Parts: sequence; structure tokens; C-alpha cells
Amino acid sequence: MIDVRDLHRSFGGVTALDGVTLAVAEGERRAIIGPNGAGKTTLFNILTGELAPTGGTVRLAGEDVTGRRTFELARRGLARMYQRNELFDPLTARENVALALTAKAGPYRFGGIPADEARAADELLERVGLAGAGATPARALSHGQRRQLELAVALATAPRVLLLDEPTAGMSPAETARIAELIASLARSLTLLVVEHDMDVVFRLADRITVLHEGKVIADGTPAQVRGDTLVNEVYLGKVIAE
Ligand SMILES: Nc1ncnc2c1ncn2[C@@H]1O[C@H](COP(=O)(O)OP(=O)(O)O)[C@@H](O)[C@H]1O
Ligand SMILES: [Mg+2]
Repeated sequence: MIDVRDLHRSFGGVTALDGVTLAVAEGERRAIIGPNGAGKTTLFNILTGELAPTGGTVRLAGEDVTGRRTFELARRGLARMYQRNELFDPLTARENVALALTAKAGPYRFGGIPADEARAADELLERVGLAGAGATPARALSHGQRRQLELAVALATAPRVLLLDEPTAGMSPAETARIAELIASLARSLTLLVVEHDMDVVFRLADRITVLHEGKVIADGTPAQVRGDTLVNEVYLGKVIAE
């Protein structure tokens, strides 16, 4: 579903990605881990078309999409839940999801949400554990609820590939458990790429793990292979698990 070859990206003198190659199968759940500054978000920004690579290629479902823009990739079934916040604060939870549903259907119609769209939005809210919060403005939701809403917004486009950048960032242990369970309950046909620092979540969720360090892939394998990798333990796992 995703095939990345020899990806490079630099910012001035800083090399963020230095020859990254990885392939993610359809329906696979792939975690991307590594220390801060490893290049994880840069990789996601290239995969979603927000950044162009300075070298290398990206294929999506067999098609070369290198340098394609975000809306073109969204049209091909790619969605993303951001590390930063992307909600419309004054709008209700239902309106945020309905907007994402409408974005797929055509231009937004002012003057209220049509009934069928409101129903579809409420179904998505229920799926992410926000049943009953439909009329609550996004700004009045807790941090954990906002992340749940962001997941509903991402799912509203019915993606084939979903990228999650640190879905548990800033969450309490209870909120983390809840969103991890939600992600685990997503359809197995959905291809999932997750950048995540919580290793319990990573090892529970991932079919395979790619480890980035200083812009390079230093390991790529099953959770058991990555856990047993000496270099990975030296540069990353040894530190985060000891924390
Ligand atoms: N827009 C940018 N401008 C300059 N440097 C950047 C930019 N984005 C990322 N970098 C640099 O690229 C490297 C990788 O960053 P990033 O992809 O955010 O890593 P991660 O998400 O793994 O923490 C870092 O050294 C970071 O400072
Ligand atoms: Mg990051």
C-alpha cells in the first residue's frame, strides 16, 4: 500500500531523512518509533504531501505519488490525525465531523447540517467514544476527547490509509488506554501508520515496527525482532523503557 524508496529531506544544513526505504502492506499496522528529531514527523509530512522530498520516491497502492499534494493524496484514500491540533474550535463536535464528511461529498452548504449527515457524524462520534458530545463545542472538550474527535474527523473521509502522529501525546493513562483500544478496534482492512512514544501502545498495536534514528532506518521487523535488536536498545528502547 505504501512503498517508500531512498527518501531524503533536508532543511538548510539539517538532514531530517537520509535514505529511508520502507514498505507497508495493505491492512498492516506499522509503528514508526525513534528518538526526538529522528525524522518521524518529516516522513509523515512527505507521505501526506505537506512536504516534498529532496530525493526518493513514494508509491501509494502502486502509483508513484512523489510530490503530490495533500488533497490529491486524500482523494486516493490517505488521511492523517495530526500531532498538533486541527479542529475548528467554535464548532461543535458534530459539526467538525460533518465538515469532514462534506469535504468528501462536495462544497460545504451553510445553514445547518442535513439530517443524514448529522446521523453519519453521530455514528462516527459514537465509534470514537464521544456519543452524547455531538452538541459540545470542540473548545469545551477535554484534551483526550479532542484527540478522539480528531480520530473521528480523520475517519470521516473513509480512508484506506490512516496516519496517526503521536495519538496519545499529552494524555492521561486512562485516556491513553482508551484511545489505544479505539485504534486497535479499527477495521483490519485499514492500513495504519502510527508514530508513538508510548511503547506499551506500540507493542500492543503494531504488526511491524520501523525504527528511525538520525534520519535513517536502523531496524524494521516484528515487535519481537525490534525488541531484541541491540542497536535499537542502545539508541532508543533502553532509554524509553527505563523511564
Ligand atoms: N520545517 C523544518 N525546518 C527546519 N528543520 C526541521 C523542520 N522540520 C524538521 N526539522 C528538523 O529535522 C529533524 C527531524 O525532525 P522531525 O521529523 O520533526 O523528527 P521527529 O518527529 O522524529 O521528532 C530535526 O533535526 C528537526 O529539527
Ligand atoms: Mg514528531
